[in-house]
Amino acid sequence: MPPYGGDGSACEAGAAAWGQAALRWGGGMERRIEMDWDRIARTEAFLKEKLDGGAYLNAHPEAKAYRLEHSYRVANIGREIARRAGFDETEMVIACLLHDVSYCEDFGEKGWREHGRRSAALARPFLEELGLPAERIEDICYGIAIHVDDEADFLGERTAFALSVGDADNLDRIDAYRIHETLCADGFLGLLYEEKLAYVEKRLGRLRELTGLPMGTEAAGELWKERIGYYLSFCEKLAGQLRASRAVL
Ligand SMILES: [Fe+2]
Repeated sequence: MPPYGGDGSACEAGAAAWGQAALRWGGGMERRIEMDWDRIARTEAFLKEKLDGGAYLNAHPEAKAYRLEHSYRVANIGREIARRAGFDETEMVIACLLHDVSYCEDFGEKGWREHGRRSAALARPFLEELGLPAERIEDICYGIAIHVDDEADFLGERTAFALSVGDADNLDRIDAYRIHETLCADGFLGLLYEEKLAYVEKRLGRLRELTGLPMGTEAAGELWKERIGYYLSFCEKLAGQLRASRAVL
């Protein structure tokens, strides 16, 4: 994927490569092995233009930067799921890049629940302009629509592809960046010693509950187990260090 803010040269080279892209068959499923960098660059430009137009985001630059960075992380997780599950990687990257595009709207606290459905509504005309196959546009829009509360405001199918958008979003919640961000947001370092211990124990309990969270694909399930294992391991070490902070053991 071209870097954020790139000059487009990588995209042009990629687009040329796409012109000669080959198809291969793996496990009985047709899968493009080349990325359509041109369509991805157009999606990045669309997303940035939308986020740049958001009044709330412009008043809160850190929130705008966060939303864009989260969108890229989710897109890269989506690409990994696609690679492992045999989906078209370009189409999954596009779906994931757009899953939160409605943050350009000032939906406030109450409207947050609607942001998946609003993102799908904003994405649809762009996806049509992009010229993606109609059935894949449905898949992408449905996946985006249901990623918040599992509900869409139009009929659609819970395909493995569609479910992967929400899976990629959830996977971003449990990796290194968010582990750190959550500790900061919860003011962990400002807690009293006993509060820190209780906090970590509570987090461990919640993570153990989430270990078997169902995913739309086996691939996402594997990634979930890997990442939640990492998070659990981090919290166990943190709890151990806390216990070693007040007494000779
Ligand atoms: Fe979202």
